Amino acid sequence: MVEEVRRTAGAGRRGLGAGGGRSDGSAAVTPVALRDVAAIEQARLPTGIGELDNVLGGGIVPGSLVLIGGSPGIGKSTLTTMALANLHEAGQKTLYVSAEESAAQIRLRAARLRPAALGIPVIAETDLPTVLATLERERPAVCVIDSVQTLHAPELSSAAGSVAQVREVAGELMRVAKALRIAVLVVGHVTKDGALAGPRVLEHLVDCVLQFEGERERTYRTVRAVKNRFGSTNEAGVFEMRDDGLVEVLDASARFVGEATRAPGSVVLAAVEGSRPLLVEVQALVSSSELVPPRRVVSGLDRNRLALVLAVLARHAGIGAGSCDVFVNVVGGVRVEEPGADLAVALAVASAVRGVAMSSAGGRPLACFGELGLTGELRSVAHAERRLSEAAKFGLEPVVEPSAHPTLRAALAHALGGRPRGALAA
Ligand code: TYD
Ligand code: MG
Repeated sequence: MVEEVRRTAGAGRRGLGAGGGRSDGSAAVTPVALRDVAAIEQARLPTGIGELDNVLGGGIVPGSLVLIGGSPGIGKSTLTTMALANLHEAGQKTLYVSAEESAAQIRLRAARLRPAALGIPVIAETDLPTVLATLERERPAVCVIDSVQTLHAPELSSAAGSVAQVREVAGELMRVAKALRIAVLVVGHVTKDGALAGPRVLEHLVDCVLQFEGERERTYRTVRAVKNRFGSTNEAGVFEMRDDGLVEVLDASARFVGEATRAPGSVVLAAVEGSRPLLVEVQALVSSSELVPPRRVVSGLDRNRLALVLAVLARHAGIGAGSCDVFVNVVGGVRVEEPGADLAVALAVASAVRGVAMSSAGGRPLACFGELGLTGELRSVAHAERRLSEAAKFGLEPVVEPSAHPTLRAALAHALGGRPRGALAA
């Protein structure tokens, strides 16, 4: 049961009245052809953080509502503070509303960032009407609400963060933002399984949903758009958390390739983050287990895909890991949830099982991509050219991929040098 606020006390039941008019007195409106609708000038407000602007589609659209979701400690407050600092420095009126931390705590964070961050006006407030009144008086161009789950609407008796509260808070922010053309960056928490906490309706309401991913303990974090009314959802940005805030990682592929180990169980995946190619190292460890069933641990990947890959490896390549623990890890805290990662997982596991490093030209890591079909075939995936050219940029050629190797067996034969033992026996 979701508690709701009833706003229009006087409005009676709606229905058709006698003369075709409506009994509640509401009048019809005339539809207009799209070409006659006045176009709005969408001058964007650049946040000065290239990767973030890119994900947003070229900056923040005035009057838009952007939801930034991420787990605690990932850097949502840091990222939004940095964006406001840049906007403030560029002469835009900004406001940071924190319903989580005291002004002193926000100051402490800002002091680690650029000096301009100390110029951002802040309020530490959890009461929704107070925040709305402040917005109406201050009329900033861009405002950060940190977070939607901790603001409280007093008309509702439920606790802050409940479905009814989150919906009410977001709805009211939306109303004020659209009326006053205030761009609002709303910070939202995510649940353990990565979904935005609170109702799905939040995602429908806002113009843009950004997801901030990565693990707190790891260096690299990615921001990607899950929904964007003003741009594509194909962009992703990679950041690194440093002592002085988040730093854009523009050469992510170079770093990951440079750090790749080339040991048995390691392979480079030519992934695509949004529309951007990214080379990441995938590592596997296979060791005998005392557990029944043995462990299947993944990090940065979908666990069910690992189960599928292991089944295909066992059935179609004769490489079984049945009684072994299998660990698969995407290095650096990057998440790759695309079918194109299948082949990398398969090669890494096969190489780990055999204890053989991938054979590749010039001692460089071996790059691959491709989806595994249930019959052991390799299926093509999107953006093959981008993946190939990114690999070529770092001299990782030839790439093991579906157009060169139609089956998993062929890919394994190439990657593990000649015919892998037992693999072709069946
Ligand atoms: P924070 O932005 O507060 O995360 P969120 O709002 O998503 O919960 O920051 C997360 C972590 O980042 C925090 O544990 C401290 C660390 N951090 C740095 O390493 N460097 C910095 O410059 C800042 C501001 C934070
Ligand atoms: Mg925070």
